[in-house]
Amino acid sequence: IELYLGALGGVLPAHPFDYAELERSALAALPPELRTYVAGGAGDEATQRGNAAAFADHGLVPRMFRAQAERDLSVELFGRRLQSPLLLAPVGVLGICTPDQHGDVHGMEAAAATGVPFIGSTLMSDPLEDVAAAAPDAAKWFQLYTPKNRELAASLVSRAEAAGYEAIVITLDTWVPGWRPRDLASGNFPQLRGKCLANYTSDPIFQEMTGPDPDPGTVVMTWVGTFGNPITWDDLPWLRSLTTMPILVKGVCHPDDARRALDEGVDGIYCSNHGGRQANGGGAALDWLPGVVEAVGDRAPIVFDSGVRTGADVVKALAMGATAVAIGRPYVYALALGGVPGAVHQIRSLQAEADLTMAVDGYPTLADLTPDALRRLR
Ligand code: FNR
Repeated sequence: IELYLGALGGVLPAHPFDYAELERSALAALPPELRTYVAGGAGDEATQRGNAAAFADHGLVPRMFRAQAERDLSVELFGRRLQSPLLLAPVGVLGICTPDQHGDVHGMEAAAATGVPFIGSTLMSDPLEDVAAAAPDAAKWFQLYTPKNRELAASLVSRAEAAGYEAIVITLDTWVPGWRPRDLASGNFPQLRGKCLANYTSDPIFQEMTGPDPDPGTVVMTWVGTFGNPITWDDLPWLRSLTTMPILVKGVCHPDDARRALDEGVDGIYCSNHGGRQANGGGAALDWLPGVVEAVGDRAPIVFDSGVRTGADVVKALAMGATAVAIGRPYVYALALGGVPGAVHQIRSLQAEADLTMAVDGYPTLADLTPDALRRLR
């Protein structure tokens, strides 16, 4: 009501409400290498487009006579109550998304202002400790690209724990770069420009690997040498042994993988196809969610991402059985276009739209959102 009244009084919002408009404006404003990096996906991007389009295949069935003036969208995840079931997905090279090159810090600030956990990527432009210090009390998780060097992996995990991160997300689908024609055509691989290697250059184990005062080329080539570690089931006990923090595995889309990962001691399943950036030719991530939900049952929380663009999308993923939903590009575009206020606006808009969708459609609590709330439309 406040927003509508504000508009009546001529106070129009500074940031877009509509995702398509946000994307259009951001793409028009961003420098080409940033635009290509953020917008691009694998292959002809059919999977990436399919991720977002898949939400239209499912419709929420409105239910009347059960509206409630007060809704509660809070959810408990790994011992912390969150005010909404939303997270910011890990985004590498986020630093370059704001002109001051501190995009990770600003992502953390936006997350803290909206009560949403920030999942910091391994590929940060500021050391993970500095990013955490931007919001000491805010919920934060650390995403690990597991390096070949096990001591370096252990060091990153223990630094994250000491800095106040509360869970580790191990990304499984990015031990090789995806086939991204947009980036390939322009030779655009921002990781190789070294702007996102602060977690490595600030690490004592990595420093031993480079020797003192390394030149930028040595840093990048040392990183290239330790990146690209395909994780197998044999690695999972070792990864598990690194920390007592909850571990989630990201990129899990097959029910058997979800089941076995839980058997091997992980604490959460992160169903995602990396926003269609890593492999083309797959189904939409949303198409894999029901199978994962069925395999996991009530054994562990499920985080879902890839293609979530609106509050209604959030509600649909929750109804399918996700415990919480993460966004990537929506907050990256908002941050790049409008800084912290832009990202805060974007996150609040998603929270508000999810809340109002549940209010109007008669699903006042998260517990009311079951698969029965959805119909397959096509
Ligand atoms: C990503 N993603 C990602 N994931 C991850 O585990 N570590 C990372 O460093 C990155 N880096 C990254 C950069 C950029 C520019 C984007 C857009 C995405 C994937 C991310 O966590 C998430 O899975 C997707 O972004 C979700 O899809 P949507 O919301 O972008 O459609």
